[in-house]
Amino acid sequence: MTEQVSGVRDLSREDLAGCQEIYRRAALESDPHAYSSKQREVWASFADEEGFSDFMMGDGGLVVEKDGAVCGFSSYEENGYIRCLYVSPDFQRSGVGGTLLSIMLNRLTGSPRIWTIASLFSRGLFARHGFTLTETEHKVHRGVAFERYIMDFTSR
Ligand SMILES: CC(C)(COP(=O)(O)OP(=O)(O)OC[C@H]1O[C@@H](n2cnc3c(N)ncnc32)[C@H](O)[C@@H]1OP(=O)(O)O)[C@@H](O)C(=O)NCCC(=O)NCCS
Repeated sequence: MTEQVSGVRDLSREDLAGCQEIYRRAALESDPHAYSSKQREVWASFADEEGFSDFMMGDGGLVVEKDGAVCGFSSYEENGYIRCLYVSPDFQRSGVGGTLLSIMLNRLTGSPRIWTIASLFSRGLFARHGFTLTETEHKVHRGVAFERYIMDFTSR
């Protein structure tokens, strides 16, 4: 079921190419000062890995379309984990990410735990929607270190 929000529909495997492109561009182009070029490269390269399609789909997912093209996508697991939230750099800071997050939160109502691993870009948005920082995590991907933010939804 997709809630009646203009331009929002359920994600399907046919959205793979569009979501890969958004993912790559979001990693490479969103405020290039926030992450080093090496970090951005490693982040973007996951779009071309075999696991990307399953990562993108989750147990449920959503896309936002504008002018006939996908401009943002998100997915979650039924256990309450919000797995991904990506918006094309052409449409960031115009409410697309917040719309996707609100719908996911509605769908996950009743989950004992709703949580995510946020980036420097998304942590403020998650905080605005009632998430608080649980733990700062340090991960190394392909030899490059990343700081990530485990955040739990605490505004019930
Ligand atoms: C995080 C992201 C999905 C937000 O989407 P969005 O459509 O811009 O979100 P909204 O317009 O609904 O909300 C904007 C808020 O998001 C956060 N945000 C968006 N872009 C940001 C940036 N470049 N730097 C810091 N915070 C940012 C801020 O809290 C912002 O509020 P503000 O404009 O008042 O500061 C988008 O920036 C993105 O795809 N980033 C790259 C990928 C990423 O980090 N995804 C999260 C992985 S969990």
